[in-house]
Amino acid sequence: MRVLFVCLGNICRSPMAEAVLRELARRRNKELTIDSAATSAEEIGNPVHRGTVQKLRAEQVPVPARRARQLTRADYAAFDWIIGMDSENIRDMLRMLGGDPEGKVRRLLDFSARPRDIADPWYTGDFDTTYADILEGCEAFLKKMENGHD
Ligand code: 4NP
Repeated sequence: MRVLFVCLGNICRSPMAEAVLRELARRRNKELTIDSAATSAEEIGNPVHRGTVQKLRAEQVPVPARRARQLTRADYAAFDWIIGMDSENIRDMLRMLGGDPEGKVRRLLDFSARPRDIADPWYTGDFDTTYADILEGCEAFLKKMENGHD
């Protein structure tokens, strides 16, 4: 299964989700291909934000060695799940992908018992809350995959 996480800049939340899901999958011996991308062009080519790097290190989650890239229409066919962090991401993703005919697009915390947006730490500065929300979402996502979806 191939999973693409998407946020606004692809330097804070989606690389964090990429790292967390990869680590959870590794611990469970699950084969997953995981990537991340941005809706905006703002941070293209830039490395993972220092706040995300520091939080992942503190949680002993390997930090992805990557540079920000923008979501493309070709990503729709290349991934089974395309998962945004907030409602604004979802709106932008649907516009950029030209819709969601196969039902692959989801907001991460819509997998959880308490559906909500994941706040952008670029603005809040709170990488701890972002991490807790992302962990909750990734665990809920894996649980959903294990129990079968739709
Ligand atoms: P992210 O955070 O979407 O979680 O990666 C942001 C990073 C950069 C910007 C916005 C959000 N920016 O406008 O440059």
